[in-house]
This record gives sequence, C-alpha cells and structure tokens, in this order.
Amino acid sequence: MPFADKPPDPLAPARAAFIAPETRWYVPPGPFLLESGARLPRLQVAFRTWGRLSPAGDNAVVVCHAFTGSADADRWWTRMFGPGRALDPERDFIVCSNILGSCYGTTGPASIDPATGSPYLGSFPLVTVRDMVRVQGELARALGIRRIRSVVGGSLGGMQVLEWALLFPDLVTSIVPIASSARHSAWAIGLSEAQRQAIAADPRWAGGRYDPADPPAAGLAAARMMAMCTYRGWESFEERYGRRPQSADLFAMESYLRYQGQQLVGRFDAATYFVLTRAMDTHDVARGRGDFEEVLRSIRQPALVVTVDTDVLYVPEEQRIMARHMPAARLEPLPSPHGHDAFLIHVDELSTLVAGFRERVEGRAASRPVARPASGGQGVSLLVLGKGKVGSPLLDQVRDQAASLSSDYDIALRVVGVGDRRGLAFDDHGLDLSRWRDELASAPPTGPFHIPGSGEVLDRLARLPGPVLVDITADPALLPVYEEAFRRGIHVVGANKLPLASSMVDRDRLSAARRQAHVRFHYETSVGASLPLLGTLRNLVRTGDRVLAVEGSLSGTVCYLLGEAEKGTPLSMALRWARELGYTEEDPRDDLSGLDSARKAVILARELGMRVEVDDVILEPLVPPELLPSSDPSALVGSLRGLDREFAARVEGARARGKVLRYLVRVDVDAGRIRVGPVEVGPEHRAAGLREVEAYVAATTVRRSGSPLVVQGAGVGGALTAGGILTDVLRVASSLGVRTGWSG
Ligand SMILES: NC(=O)c1ccc[n+]([C@@H]2O[C@H](COP(=O)([O-])OP(=O)(O)OC[C@H]3O[C@@H](n4cnc5c(N)ncnc54)[C@H](OP(=O)(O)O)[C@@H]3O)[C@@H](O)[C@H]2O)c1
Repeated sequence: MPFADKPPDPLAPARAAFIAPETRWYVPPGPFLLESGARLPRLQVAFRTWGRLSPAGDNAVVVCHAFTGSADADRWWTRMFGPGRALDPERDFIVCSNILGSCYGTTGPASIDPATGSPYLGSFPLVTVRDMVRVQGELARALGIRRIRSVVGGSLGGMQVLEWALLFPDLVTSIVPIASSARHSAWAIGLSEAQRQAIAADPRWAGGRYDPADPPAAGLAAARMMAMCTYRGWESFEERYGRRPQSADLFAMESYLRYQGQQLVGRFDAATYFVLTRAMDTHDVARGRGDFEEVLRSIRQPALVVTVDTDVLYVPEEQRIMARHMPAARLEPLPSPHGHDAFLIHVDELSTLVAGFRERVEGRAASRPVARPASGGQGVSLLVLGKGKVGSPLLDQVRDQAASLSSDYDIALRVVGVGDRRGLAFDDHGLDLSRWRDELASAPPTGPFHIPGSGEVLDRLARLPGPVLVDITADPALLPVYEEAFRRGIHVVGANKLPLASSMVDRDRLSAARRQAHVRFHYETSVGASLPLLGTLRNLVRTGDRVLAVEGSLSGTVCYLLGEAEKGTPLSMALRWARELGYTEEDPRDDLSGLDSARKAVILARELGMRVEVDDVILEPLVPPELLPSSDPSALVGSLRGLDREFAARVEGARARGKVLRYLVRVDVDAGRIRVGPVEVGPEHRAAGLREVEAYVAATTVRRSGSPLVVQGAGVGGALTAGGILTDVLRVASSLGVRTGWSG
C-alpha cells in the first residue's frame, strides 16, 4: 500500500507538534527523479483530505500551501472551508499536501538521508516548484483523482497553481493563483538571497552541516524578520505599531519582528529555508518551455488571478501580466492595507471571491448559501459559554435585540451555540432563543468546554460568518480555549477574569496569538461589569496621556456588603442576600478575601502597561481566608456568623471616628505597586458616597493631575453585565465592517 497513517521516517518532535493527527502519508514506490537530475532514493508525502472523492473521481480541489505552510489547510485557511465557502467538504474532495523540500512531514532537508543515516540538511538537492507539483500529481493519481475542479493557492502556493495548469492541463478545470508571480523577479530573488545570507552568517550554520539540536537560530530568526517586512507593508505597520515604544529601548515594531523570528525558529528548519527559497528563485513558468508570454497564453483554463494592491513582494503588476496573457483569466483585487499576507488575513473576502468564481466556472451554485442578513450586511455567530446569572440575561437580550439589530444596523446576530458544564447545544443556522434551555438540556452530556476536547466545535464555529466565542464562565481552563479560538480566526468576548489575571507569560502568549490572527478580544466587563473602565484607561494611554495612579473600589459586591453592614445588617446575612441577588462570585470567598479585587486590579494595571502578577499585589483581605474554610454557601454563611460581631464593631469604630469602611484598590504606576485592602475614609473622600453595588475608578494622569478622570456606577449585576457583553459583541461586529452607528 502506498499510504500510511504514521510517518514512515520519524519526525523531529518539535515539528511533529505542528502536524495534525489526521495527517496521512503517501510513499511512492522507488526513487524520485528531480528536475535537476538528482535522485531522492526515498520519498514520503504528508497530506490531508477533507470530504469524499466521488465514484467518478471528478470532484477534487487541490490546495497548495505557501513557503512556511503545511498540509493543515483547515488550520491556516480555516474560513475558506465550509458550506457556502470556497472549499466545501460536503461537495468537494479537498487535498492539501506538504510540499517537497518542506519540514512538515514530506521529505526535505530535515529528513534522514538513507545514504548516511543522518539528516540531509545543507546537502539536500535543489528542488523546483515543478518537482513539488509532480509529486502532488503522483499523489492525486494514487488517490484515484481523475478530474480536479480547481487548484487554489497563494504566494508559493500560487506558483504551484500555475505549474499544475501547465503540467496537468487535462486534469485541471480551473485555477486560482493568489498574490503570486509567474516568474520570480529580481526583487524577490534579491530578498531570498539576503535572507539566506543572514542564515549563512550565523556561525552555527557551518556550511549547512549544523547540529539539528543546536541550529543557526539567530540567522533563521533574522531571515524571518526580513521576510516579515515584505509580507506586510508600510500602511499595516504604521497602523499597528507606528513609533509606539514597547519598552524604554525597544519599538513595538522591533518587538513584533523579534517575536516573529523566534516563533519560526521553534517550528522551522534553516536548510529547509534555503531549499524552499531557492525553489522559488528557480520559478519561471517559461523555463525550458519557450517564450514567457506564449507559455502564459497556453494556460487555457478559466483562472481567477487575485491581486493585493499593497503587496510589496509579488507586486500587483506581476498579477496584471499573468491575467493579461492567460486567455481565460480574470483579475480580481483583494483590497487590504496588510500587504502580501492579505490572503491569510482577509479570508472571508477571499472565500467569497473564490466561491463566486467556482460557481461561474462550474455552472452551478458552488454550495449551500450561509445565513446572511437579507440586506447583505454582516453575520455574527455567537458561541456562548455559561448560562448563569450573566449568560441567561445575555441570551434574552440577544433574542430581544436581534430583530432591531438586523433591520437598523444590518447585523444578523445569531447564537449558534450555548454551553454549560454539562454539555453544549450547537446549530450552524442559529439556535431558537425562545427554547435554548430545552435545546441545552437535551444536548449530549459532553462536559465542560475545554481543550483539546472542544476543538471540533471551534472548527465548526470558525467556518461560520463573524465567529465570536463569548466566555461567561469563571473557569481558568478557558485560557487555552482562547488561544485555539484565535488561531482559528475566532474573535473572543469575555467576562471571565481568570484567563486575564493569569501569569504574564500566559498573557503575552495570548496577545501574540491574537495579534497573529488579526482577531478581536474584548473583555470590558471583566472589571466593573458594564462600566467603561478598561477602555477609558486604555484610551488615555493610547492618546499619549500618562496615567500616574488609579484609585478605586472595584467590587460592587463588597460595596454592597459594607453598605449593609453600615445599616446594621450582620455580615453573614449580607453575604446571604448578596448571593441570592446574584452579586457574589461563584466562590464568594474570592469576594471576601479580596482576591477578586486583586485580579481586577491586575487586569486594569496591565492595561496601563504594568507587567504585574496577582501574587505581586499587596493584599489585605476583608475577611482573612483562613477563617473561611469552605466555599459551600451555607457553611460559609455559618463561618461568617462567628465573625459578625467583630465585623460590626469594626464598622462601628470607623463611624465613631467620623469615617466609613471601604475596600479600595490603589495602583501606583511608576512604583509598579498595587495595594488592595480596607480603608477608613472621611466624608470628603469620593468612596464615602458609594451606594448599593457601585464601583468606581479615579485616574490621575499627567494631563489631569488636578482633577482625576472618574468613572462610577453599578459594578455588578447579571443584566447590566450582559448589556456590557453585548456592547463588546457589537464592537467586534463593527470591526468586521458592520454598520453599528448612524454615521456608518
Ligand atoms: N454576575 C455579575 O454581575 C458579573 C459581573 C461582571 C463579571 N462577571 C463574570 O462573569 C462570569 C460569569 O458570572 P455569573 O455570575 O454568570 O456566574 P455563574 O452564575 O456561576 O455562571 C457560570 C456559568 O458558567 C458555566 N461554566 C463554567 N465552566 C464552564 C465550562 N468550562 N464550559 C462551559 N460552561 C461553563 C456554568 O455552567 P453550569 O450552569 O453547568 O454550572 C454556568 O452556567 C464570571 O467570570 C464573573 O466573574 C459577573
């Protein structure tokens, strides 16, 4: 059998993690002869497929990946897949294989050379784009493919697309080369060479005979940094980084590039970088075939040539040349400020272009339409995790607001999934919100949402229009879920403090994953419920003001407890009422110990650029945690009873001194210090006037040193918080190009 479920040659463990478990391998019999005349004694090809091959073998679609890509097209092009999208596994048999010379499962420089028993590294022979496509052609034949509906790919993938049309004209019905070129220009060759020389300048490169355990990482990172500058563009970098400092001696732009360099070192290989950039440099559809324009004219299949106006690597003129000479080509712009990588960023728009093209060429609706607003506006698909005090009112609010959002603002807001700790109800077309409780109750008991178990649900969500994960749980295990969501192009809106107050290492990783995926992450309700605290502080910093200190009361729950204590209510009874009113955290000890306020203070401080951990907070509890042994509500109320008298005396003592007890947070930005604890304040203090469940922050800034900026209002409450979450969802919708205001 030429197929295997495991790699015939072992994979380097670091890279094996980047290869999906669904991967299969094709192992052609005998050696493989390269265009250069060299021979690879053994070849293996890692590939993925989606959908079923029709009995006639005529429904295949081939996806060709770019330079550092892999066969896992559903990971890096997630939103191209699905009903109504460019690649529809319900109708198409989609194939993507890791290219020859790469390091994600197919034979390449990191593979073992059977002649020496060691990796080839720098001794791997020259391969060409034609070699890559000939290997893919063999795989297609072995899979039983007799006709290919379309070959689709961007960048180096687009080069392969052209070679597919030329090498297998009778097999290929249509082609879609995206942000690509028919021959590598002097400019592109120059860029490749500069990057290769960066690797070669690293002493660890050792003429290509490096130790794979100690590779030329610095050279590879530098090469990647150069490349990243050509994958994006001036406008994109100005918009995202401008001259913003990351730290005292580092621009944000520098930090971004360094991060990108390090990321690649972890997942790629230096000799592979050499081999694949050289393969691109040899790319010329006319090589050995005659006149360049004549060769392009011989590509007779219908072609959709996609061009990105801001691409500085394969400039738009290169796609215009292609489209001008290919007789059945149509040039289609993909407008973007993001340069070459736009084909990995504006995937929804690209999918629409490709699906429309396929529909025209294949003479039928390419696939089932996805639900979109009748007026042509934007769909937003929500997966809501948590149906508690906040989740339930949110679902009601979406149900009540959906019609007016659709008619007034062109937003088709659909809740496609609702989950709790027991299970998850999911429907691609949207749940009926008048009976979501029944649907959730009858869903299979799959347990709490978590990674890796819930990956398939995220895949499903990622294929729907405007996918948004809404986290209204208090589960720290959602942190890796966010990362996986970002990676799939899913936006996240969260009220859950725990992932946000996790370590700085986690936060940095999360931020990087979000930036990389160009998705939105809003968590305004995690501090102060529906009060616009975080956004207000963030905007002060963004507009060049410097925040010196922030003082505030961040727990509406503790404010309520203290207010009741002032009226003479015993603390234990006040806590019971707070629980009944839905004000307390899942574990009310987090409110009483001050941990909840400390977490909020850390989330807030990080918005101001402070790199702090919850453990760094100087925390004085309202009630010492050691006096609260159990989170069980009745046991907790029981243990508080023993403290009622002492607590009442404390409140009374403050009153006798003309003061009131408040639980305050103070963030001193320059000192890098956060204090959280009870403070007695006089009537002149802002906090003295707090009522019911109010919270506030007062920010002293360089521009506002005399009169701090104050945000104040109710800081807890299910319906209020739900309203704040809906506001965050609408911000995501607005970023997707939805009209969310009258001016739009
Ligand atoms: N309440 C407020 O006023 C307020 C204000 C601001 C922020 N918040 C934050 O909002 C979040 C939710 O608060 P809440 O008051 O609504 O809490 P809640 O009433 O305790 O509800 C939490 C919900 O999350 C579900 N859940 C927990 N882990 C899950 C998982 N892994 N997968 C799926 N579902 C999971 C629970 O499922 P079960 O139903 O099966 O237990 C429950 O439905 C918390 O992080 C809280 O700090 C709340």
